[in-house]
Amino acid sequence: MPLNDCRMIELPKIHDPRGNLTFIESSRHIPFDMKRVYYLYDVPGGADRGAHAHKNLHQFIVAMSGSFDIVLNDGERQRRFHLNRSFYGLYVCPMMWRYLDNFSSGAVCMVLASDFYDPNEYYRDFDQFKNAAGKILDETSFSGPSSDT
Ligand code: TYD
Repeated sequence: MPLNDCRMIELPKIHDPRGNLTFIESSRHIPFDMKRVYYLYDVPGGADRGAHAHKNLHQFIVAMSGSFDIVLNDGERQRRFHLNRSFYGLYVCPMMWRYLDNFSSGAVCMVLASDFYDPNEYYRDFDQFKNAAGKILDETSFSGPSSDT
């Protein structure tokens, strides 16, 4: 999938003097049904996480506390996103290489995922990923004119 399919999504925010509230509903605020939640925390200064791609998994990533960067690469283009608000998240589509860095002290990174954990569903080698992603991008760009032209 192309990099443009990944985007920042603003979540509902209920302002309240007692403290704000944000919620996320499957397939309403994010473009998939979620089956799993995991989170990264106690990340030491200077550490990187991620450095992999998923074949079919959709993810939505939120900075629940603190801040960090997410770098996405579709095999051709790369873009860096800065996450620092708990009412925004980044939708990451399948076949997207990503790594996370620049974690602030106390940062908590929550990830909503469209499926259960499956180690066979990962690309952990960038060259293998780039090769597979290149084939998909080629198929998309050589699919010919659409039927309504
Ligand atoms: P890994 O995917 O390498 O972390 P990251 O890419 O975010 O740096 O996962 C680290 C370990 O945690 C690895 O042994 C797999 C395990 N793990 C699970 O058991 N379940 C999960 O849902 C996730 C995301 C990881």
